Amino acid sequence: MPYAVRLLEVLLRSERIVHLTISPAAVQVLESEMNRRLDLRSFQAEALLGPVGRELNLARLHYYHHQDFRAGIASGSFLTAGMVICPCSMGTVAAIAHGTSQNLIHRAADVHLKERRKLILVPRETPLGIVQLRNLTACAEAGAVVLPAMPAFYTRPQGIQDMIDFIVGRVCDQLGVPHQLFARWGC
Ligand SMILES: Cc1cc2nc3c(=O)[nH]c(=O)nc-3n(C[C@H](O)[C@H](O)[C@H](O)COP(=O)(O)O)c2cc1C
Repeated sequence: MPYAVRLLEVLLRSERIVHLTISPAAVQVLESEMNRRLDLRSFQAEALLGPVGRELNLARLHYYHHQDFRAGIASGSFLTAGMVICPCSMGTVAAIAHGTSQNLIHRAADVHLKERRKLILVPRETPLGIVQLRNLTACAEAGAVVLPAMPAFYTRPQGIQDMIDFIVGRVCDQLGVPHQLFARWGC
């Protein structure tokens, strides 16, 4: 979840409009990993973003309940610059690989694939079983970018924040969002 929270912050600081949906399982993970409690029925941006939420232009953030299939992002006619699922569970990878579309996250991912728009999956699982590898392959074959949350060490990270920023920066590279979150190799 620290990857997701930082990505949201970076996108909002970059003056992007962000359409956000969150699964119930992500609420559990947020509490376990960041000690933050979110109620998806009455979404409060600061409960997700923490104190940094006060510095951001939240008018650019549009939140949808995960069962709200009327949301714009459920339709191919609603234009976006791309979609990121961060972090992406193996369950969600399976739903996308097989098109079973049980919630708004799965549906919006299906839409991005069928519209040939950028879909970036940030799985965080290790080791990977054969079913998971096959599902990830199916997603990649359908056009998704599989970008595992796998921090680099050539950047000589000074702490966890640097490791988070490396992954968030690589997602931003895929989205075409300029950033200076890490020092590039060869520069
Ligand atoms: C603290 C915590 C960490 C988890 N980490 C992972 C993980 O790294 N990868 C994964 O696939 N599932 C993980 N899970 C399990 C998912 O939450 C679970 O598979 C859930 O059904 C995913 O639902 P979603 O894809 O709708 O978010 C974790 C659960 C908890 C509580």
